[in-house]
Amino acid sequence: MSVLFDAVTIGRLRVKNRFVRSATQDFMSEPDGAVSAREVELYGTLAANEVGLIITGHSYVQHPLGRASVRQNAIYDDRFVAGYRRAVEAVHAHGAALVLQVSHAGRQTPPDWLAGQETVAPSAVTDGSNGLTPRALTEEEIWSLVDAYAAAVGRAKAAGCDGAQLHVAHGYLLSAFISPYTNRRTDKWGGSLENRIRILGEIMQRARRAAGEDFPILAKLNSTDGLPGEGFLTLPDVVATAKALAGWGVAAIEVSGGIREAKGVMSAPGIARPEQEAYFAAAAKAVKAAVNVPVILVGGLRSLAVMERVVAEGAADLVSLSRPLVREPDLVARFRRGEATKASCVSCNACFNPAGLKCWLPEKK
Ligand SMILES: Cc1cc2nc3c(=O)[nH]c(=O)nc-3n(C[C@H](O)[C@H](O)[C@H](O)COP(=O)(O)O)c2cc1C
Repeated sequence: MSVLFDAVTIGRLRVKNRFVRSATQDFMSEPDGAVSAREVELYGTLAANEVGLIITGHSYVQHPLGRASVRQNAIYDDRFVAGYRRAVEAVHAHGAALVLQVSHAGRQTPPDWLAGQETVAPSAVTDGSNGLTPRALTEEEIWSLVDAYAAAVGRAKAAGCDGAQLHVAHGYLLSAFISPYTNRRTDKWGGSLENRIRILGEIMQRARRAAGEDFPILAKLNSTDGLPGEGFLTLPDVVATAKALAGWGVAAIEVSGGIREAKGVMSAPGIARPEQEAYFAAAAKAVKAAVNVPVILVGGLRSLAVMERVVAEGAADLVSLSRPLVREPDLVARFRRGEATKASCVSCNACFNPAGLKCWLPEKK
């Protein structure tokens, strides 16, 4: 049996195998952001099909500016806890674990969700994806965001989730803080790496106070902005950030990359050959060499052989999939039964569809 079916621990959490469903926005929440019956069904299906650790789609911590899209889950209020409790029950019924991803869209908030306000970000750097120039957050607003993230982690605990994951990737608010491209502040929240990652330390401290020291808090971390040239996030900064996160008590680090302006970096299109898979493996290996917590690799993993290799080569402890599990929610079960060795996802990205999460390819198997 593949090493991928060996159990692993993330802090106090035991995960029955090494397969993770990476956070995937499903465009299926209730209109107000509450977890819907369709979402409970989706999580139950993934759990029944042997995905060990399921990370929810990103759930926004502050209303209205933190919102990224239509039918996105919300966690900015206690009223959202009940819906997540139902999702947890559906997942636990199959012995899998559910981790709630908490997020704020920052400068990438689309104009539709601004309710007449401006987008907010560490600094006023125009976002090429929505064309908007955000307003730089005030010191007071930064503290209110720290509290919003901490409260969201507390709600994940109250819902019975097995952990929470800070979304520090893909150009959303927290990854915008760590990158010198989007963080040009000259106060204690910007400039040196220590200052750019300060917000993460403050969130970790307050989140652990809100949820308890042993509640697993994970982080999905950008390893690159994905744009060419100087002045962007560097790998040494990423490794130092990962070390700091581990020091602050983060239970596991998922390595991803790409901001929205860098099209096709986060979810690279057209992955057809093994050489195109695992496109953040080198960054994950550098992170893994520097931290003593489990590392999760996401990005273009398609074949069992590549997934086994990244674990064997010390690039990751767990492997994380998004698009393949949209197309084939039963993929992990079929891997285990020996009925498949490779995902049939062609990485066309048609699953980014606000009409709801499914594989939209006409020739679906
Ligand atoms: C439809 C869709 C929604 C996504 N939503 C999220 C999200 O809510 N949070 C997140 O961190 N990443 C999100 N991602 C990125 C994936 O988790 C993953 O990092 C990326 O797609 C690369 O992995 P893959 O090749 O297995 O798809 C999303 C990707 C897709 C395709």
